[in-house]
This record gives sequence, C-alpha cells and structure tokens, in this order.
Amino acid sequence: MRVLVVGGGGREHALVWKLRQSTRVKKIYCAPGNAGIAGLAECVHIAADDIAGLVKFAGEQDIDLTVVGPEAPLAAGIADAFQAKGMQVFGPVAAAARLEASKAFAKQLMQKYGIPTAESRTFTAAEDALAYIRQKGAPIVVKADGLAAGKGVIVARTVAEAEAAVQRMLVAGEFGAAGKRVVVEEYLAGEEVSVLAFTDGKSVVPMAGAQDHKAAYDHDQGPNTGGMGAYSPAPVLTPELLQRVRREILGPTVHGLRREGITFQGVLYAGLMLTADGPKVLEYNVRFGDPECQVILPRLKGDLAEIMLAVNSGSLAEEMIAWHDWHAACVVMASGGYPGKYAAGKVITGLQEAAAMPDVYVFHAGTALQDGKIVTAGGRVLGVTAWGETLASALEKAYRAVRTIHFDGVHYRSDIGWRGRARTD
Ligand code: AMP
Ligand code: GLY
Repeated sequence: MRVLVVGGGGREHALVWKLRQSTRVKKIYCAPGNAGIAGLAECVHIAADDIAGLVKFAGEQDIDLTVVGPEAPLAAGIADAFQAKGMQVFGPVAAAARLEASKAFAKQLMQKYGIPTAESRTFTAAEDALAYIRQKGAPIVVKADGLAAGKGVIVARTVAEAEAAVQRMLVAGEFGAAGKRVVVEEYLAGEEVSVLAFTDGKSVVPMAGAQDHKAAYDHDQGPNTGGMGAYSPAPVLTPELLQRVRREILGPTVHGLRREGITFQGVLYAGLMLTADGPKVLEYNVRFGDPECQVILPRLKGDLAEIMLAVNSGSLAEEMIAWHDWHAACVVMASGGYPGKYAAGKVITGLQEAAAMPDVYVFHAGTALQDGKIVTAGGRVLGVTAWGETLASALEKAYRAVRTIHFDGVHYRSDIGWRGRARTD
C-alpha cells in the first residue's frame, strides 16, 4: 500500500512511525512532514490545508490510503474531497468533524442525546451572554465556538474575567469567525482524562487511556498549550470507568450522530472531566490527540493500516485493538516563550545519543533541516517518548534522553506524569 500522511507535527511523526511497521505499507509520503519524519517517509511540500493540492498529489501518486492528522483540513472537508474522487481517506467527513469545529453543535448533540457535559448556553449577542454570566456567577467558562488552536477557552475565576472574554470574542472579534458565537458553561472540577476511540460509524472501540498536560509550567501553572507531555495508560481510568465512558459517552455520541444522518468514521477523542457526578465531556476532537498519539501508538498491538481500512469499510471489530502492558511517557521539549512568541532556527544537539538509548523514541514536532543541521521550527519542538514496565521507569528513560538533547532557550516540564505517579508509585 502507498500511504500519504497529512500534517507535520509530533502526532504525524508517530502515525508515520507506526504505519511503517505495517507489513502492508510499502511507501509513505508525508505532507508537509518535518525533519524527523523525513527519516521514515518522503516529505512533500504541500500544506496540510491545501486540500486541492493533496487530492491532486494522491491521484498522481496512486495513493491507496490518506491519513489526516490535524483538525483544520477535516473541518474544511478533506475527507469529503477524497471520497468524491473515490479515494480512501482516514478521518471523518466535515459534517462529523463539526463535533470539534463547532462547540455549539457539540453541545446541542450532547443535550439532545443525554450525553453528560457541563450545563451551557450558546450566544451571539454580547448583552445576552453578559446577563447570563452575571446571573450564574464565577467560576465560569467562556468558549469560542470555532477552531482556535486551543486558545479559545477561558476558564474565568471571576465575573470580570468572563465579561472580558465575551468582549474579546463577541465585540472586539479577536478570535475572528471562531468567536462570533460563544458557549458559556458551568465550571467543572475534577481530574481530566482523554479517551480516544476508533469508530466505523457503528462500532466504537476505545483505545488505552492517556493524560496530557496542557499548562506550560510545572504544577500545572501558566498558560494553556497544545500539550506539554502525556502518558498512557492513565491509572485514573479504571476498566470500570472506561466501560462507563463507552456506554454513556462514546457510544451515544456516534449513535446520536447517526440518528442525525452523519456517519463518523475515524478517531473520536473525548476530553473528559471526572467529576463527583461521573465523567462529563469538556470537548470532542475528531482526530488523534497530540501528544496523546505519541504515547498511545507505541502501546498498540497489531497493524494500524489494517485498523484504518476496517474503520473505512465499516468492519471494525473489537479484537483488532489490543494493547501492550507497558507504560509510555512523552516529554515535550518546547521553544522558550511558547505558547507565546518564540524564536526558531536554533540548532538541536544530542539527538543521536538520545536515539541510541533503549526504549526511547524522539518524535519531532517542530523541526527543520537547515544546512545539514536539524533546527527548531515551531513552539513544540520534540516529543521525547519512552516506555517501560512502570510509569516511573518510562519517565526516567524519557527524562534521561531529554537531558542529552539541547537547543537554545529549551523549555520542558519536569513533572510529566505526576498525577499518574501519585496513584501508582
Ligand atoms: P477544551 O478545549 O474545551 O478542552 O478546554 C481546554 C481546557 O479548559 C480543558 O482541558 C480544561 O482544562 C478547561 N476547561 C474546559 N471546559 C471546562 C469546564 N467546563 N470546567 C472546567 N475547566 C474547563
Ligand atoms: N492534546 C490535546 C489535543 O490534541 O487537542
């Protein structure tokens, strides 16, 4: 099989790495890829959101399967465009991707089908949103309706903060079209966990649990990022809890969509808050999480390409998905300043030493090749991943590798996995 992977971050490096292990996969292209992916696949200069360019490339190169990493092209209809040409694509059609692309749509679906989530209302007029916020009081959460690269959620500790968020979204238009509508929702307290599942639109098969670390600094301080690290399994997600998530959330979501005439095929990601009243949905994503993918895929037994084809043909079966017992941990090495402004083009050293360490793999997130050297080219630069018999040993190996790697201004969290360790050490 000839495969095209769309995207160029750590998630896509992990997808390429896992797909390379498939006996059915003979050749992989990645658009646009990065310096790490270039060691495993042929990178092509087509942007992940250039749908016409990707369709054309796939047609010319006789690609048998295109795997879409990020949400933006899915929301823009990349799966629809490939299907219209009769080409195989892994990732949901735009109507299904709305679960991530419109929080108002997701909320409506959850309300209609009784899927547990925070109580909320959707607004387009600032005065109505402000009146609701004043009535409810703080803490309260204000969310831009559309895609905002993880920056569209404001967890307001005070009414004034929530009012300011409404002003920025609905009045000042700081979030563009994504903030023309806002969801104002109840603040939920608890521990967060990500549950991802493969679904062919009928069957829903959950993956192993994972936890990521959204805050930039240790002890969950600082601004939210795309994710500073992750680990799998998540000890908080017991088998009983996973069954409950499957029964109350994942199944009803896919079947609810089906009742609406929408077939969801691909990866459904539920970001959950484990509240005193049970798990509730914070958000849906319609693709693998980044960096959750980097810790989940190394634990997946079996052939990812086969699983993806089964999803597309509506023949996904429970027994296709099994997991290694070992624990995996990923520490993200970021550019200083991320998620704000940061410099690029810093030379990265120590990658070869890290690569030679047992049970370690360095996924590249934002890297480029410049004059024969690997340099930084993004906020998140590397996802240093390791596995071991325990979470503690996986973390120890990952951090040992992290300490051999260097670039100017490097920043990483030193407490990845702390919640898991608090439960298991
Ligand atoms: P989201 O993109 O919707 O997952 O939101 C980003 C982050 O904001 C989540 O990972 C949570 O940490 C936080 N968050 C979102 N919604 C809520 C909520 N209703 N209550 C408390 N925290 C929330
Ligand atoms: N790590 C969170 C996400 O991929 O959205």
